[in-house]
Amino acid sequence: AMDSGVARLSVADWEVYHQQLEKRVGINQKLMSPIIAQARRQPKRVVFAEADTYKILKAAQILVDEHIAFPILLGDKKKIQQIMEDNYIEIDRCEIIDVTEQPEEKLESYAQMLYQKRQRKGVTLYDARKMILDRNYYGAMMVHANEADALISGLTKEYARIIRPALQVIGVEPGVNRVAGMYIITNTKGESYFFADTTVNANPTADELVDIIGLTARKVRFFGIEPRMAVLSYSNFGSVAGEQPEKALLAVQKAKQKYPNLIIDGEIQANVALDTQLLQENYPFSDLAESGANTLIFPELTSGNISYKLLQEIGGNEAIGPILMGMKKPVHVLQLGSSIREIVNMVAIAVVEAQR
Ligand code: ACO
Repeated sequence: AMDSGVARLSVADWEVYHQQLEKRVGINQKLMSPIIAQARRQPKRVVFAEADTYKILKAAQILVDEHIAFPILLGDKKKIQQIMEDNYIEIDRCEIIDVTEQPEEKLESYAQMLYQKRQRKGVTLYDARKMILDRNYYGAMMVHANEADALISGLTKEYARIIRPALQVIGVEPGVNRVAGMYIITNTKGESYFFADTTVNANPTADELVDIIGLTARKVRFFGIEPRMAVLSYSNFGSVAGEQPEKALLAVQKAKQKYPNLIIDGEIQANVALDTQLLQENYPFSDLAESGANTLIFPELTSGNISYKLLQEIGGNEAIGPILMGMKKPVHVLQLGSSIREIVNMVAIAVVEAQR
């Protein structure tokens, strides 16, 4: 009955249906409310590199109405206006930038800046003039030139292609070796868990895992939570010999040295890391025995990416992410399946990052 009902909904009814759905799954409020409140104190300019979709425009409307951000919309102006008209979306005081309609001098100055940055990476001025017409380069350049405070790209299924312009133009934060992606999974009890690296580094070495651990610890604290980290594998504390468990173990040893105050342990299996009783009975010596892990570090990208996607699809969990960590300025690349609520959450996070 639900299906046939939904099929006949008008645009306005869709709105209500969406709102109800979003309320129902709004289980991460405890985590997000303080972030949204903080964003509202000092909203920032957020450029959307691919604004010509319903979800992004609807999110932009909410962001303006709720005083969370000042959206800047990049995209085909006619297409954006058409989508807004068709869906009764009105956004007060919101800049729309059609890259192809920008004045020649503006494009030339951006091309020159891009050329300066990339001339020793094989980019000619001719290349730079073409690249800057790509909205992902243009958006990254706006942030680099301080004409926007944060960049939101996507919704995309091409994460790798979309993150590259941001890495090339905005780059990593001083002192950071590599960026990584985090997801927050909140279950129906309202308990949040932090997962990394879920989006960037395919097969990190032990040292690269230590980088990921450092970035993730900082980002968990950003949410006002003290991380309790488990570096995951398919064995517990040396119970199986093998390349992957040994890599995880080495990463834990190095991380303990580098961050002596961090609660971290492993290598450890996921279920053991999350089960305090099991830990106390079998591994009372572990850092995690007092209270199980809330932050899971995956040994490589495959398991991290698959894990959060499974949890998102099965069992009523809500996900926020991918939160890109370690960029010089806030940048996030949204994936195709993001809900409007998730987009709003990601922007609120980017605004607070820009404030700090
Ligand atoms: N941290 C910091 N900088 C990096 C990183 C990193 N992890 N990776 C690359 N860079 C830098 C490079 O040093 C280079 O800088 P430079 O040109 O100034 O020297 C720049 O970024 C571009 O480098 P490339 O060589 O073009 O990039 P690379 O081929 O290494 O690709 C990428 C980087 C795209 C992030 C790659 O690691 C990748 O494809 N990762 C997997 C992405 C993915 O598909 N994730 C799963 C799906 S995401 C999801 O499900 C939401």
